Amino acid sequence: MGNCWCRREPSVHRVSSNTKSESPKEKSPSVNAMKDDSKLPSNPEEVEHLRRSSAANPLIVFTFNELKIITGNFRPDHMLGGGGFGSVYKGFIDEDLREGLQPIPVAVKVHDGDNSYQGHREWLAEVIFLGQLSHPNLVKLVGYCCEDEHRVLIYEYMARGSVENNLFSRVLLPLPWSIRMKIAFGAAKGLAFLHEAEKPVIYRDFKTSNILLDLDYNAKLSDFGLAKDGPVGDKSHVSTRIMGTYGYAAPEYIMTGHLTPRSDVYSYGVVLLELLTGRKSLDKSRPAREQNLTDWALPLLKEKKKFLNIVDPRLEGDYPIKEVHRAAMLAYHCLNRNPKARPLMRDIVDSLEPLQVSCEVSNEKSNWTVIIESPNEAFQRKEDAQCN
Ligand SMILES: Nc1ncnc2c1ncn2[C@@H]1O[C@H](COP(=O)(O)OP(=O)(O)O)[C@@H](O)[C@H]1O
Ligand SMILES: [Mg+2]
Repeated sequence: MGNCWCRREPSVHRVSSNTKSESPKEKSPSVNAMKDDSKLPSNPEEVEHLRRSSAANPLIVFTFNELKIITGNFRPDHMLGGGGFGSVYKGFIDEDLREGLQPIPVAVKVHDGDNSYQGHREWLAEVIFLGQLSHPNLVKLVGYCCEDEHRVLIYEYMARGSVENNLFSRVLLPLPWSIRMKIAFGAAKGLAFLHEAEKPVIYRDFKTSNILLDLDYNAKLSDFGLAKDGPVGDKSHVSTRIMGTYGYAAPEYIMTGHLTPRSDVYSYGVVLLELLTGRKSLDKSRPAREQNLTDWALPLLKEKKKFLNIVDPRLEGDYPIKEVHRAAMLAYHCLNRNPKARPLMRDIVDSLEPLQVSCEVSNEKSNWTVIIESPNEAFQRKEDAQCN
């Protein structure tokens, strides 16, 4: 979350929901509609009422005491990550916790508890968005806790953690090309689903730390704290306070605050570049002209003789050149400074489909042996040269 800006500034930013009304006459409750922070539902009854009126997915309301049991009292060695507004712990819902609950591993995100409306707003946005959206490429929200000052989210546990942890790890073996394309494909399908929803949603914080991976490297978008309802009717954009992450946010959004689905497409292009190059979107440890990945890579992408120079050297040339070229061209189009010239997420999904290889990654079936050592640190041994 190091590059994130504005996440903690008081009040001004408006997170909204994509709430659907149950009857056409009923007005949709929406976090977005509540411009005045003091009107945000903040006590458990109001939150539950707002959520139920838009509910699609059943969510479990946990007590804070139950979360202590689930996480072993928030054991520091069970921490999976920390970010903009809290810490994420691995936990387990035991059958004995409450009658009728399925035993499953979960991730528990605890908001800092600084009592800021900002944190409450982001928490509420996640409860509302993930409470009604459901897709194989979005992380599943199991439940939440809203007790006194505690604001907690409970998600399905994603065994391989974030793409950031996998792609930039010094411990893990480099992700093979086929897995990188599987991740790009899954994340693109998640974004396409949001953009094509009945009430379109702009994700606004697309980056490698917000894409999570299950055991089979299926990618799921998580962290909907900054998600926003897309423009409706003949509106081309929504105006917002500028929030997001340096290195990923679209230039026109940074300059004007005008948010469109094409802002997500730009961020998608940055992530595709990170998958291609194995470099972070911003890396202060590199020479000055290479610190901003997009500035460095963009001129090289379109030169047929040079684009291979930017491919991740850790792949050791183990990739199909034609496909790398197609992915590089796709990234190039996503990063067009003119938002209207960028492809739609649906076009991106279609372009990536032919780059998928049928490579089942599981402990038994593949020639990738995977040993889970700790929640987020898996040690991978590559038995054969390449998955395909
Ligand atoms: N469901 C989950 N399963 C496994 N790890 C997770 C899960 N949710 C979050 N994490 C880990 O915690 C990190 C921060 O989570 P995120 O939801 O992005 O919080 P923040 O709002 O603080 O950025 C992620 O990058 C990931 O490493
Ligand atoms: Mg995050």
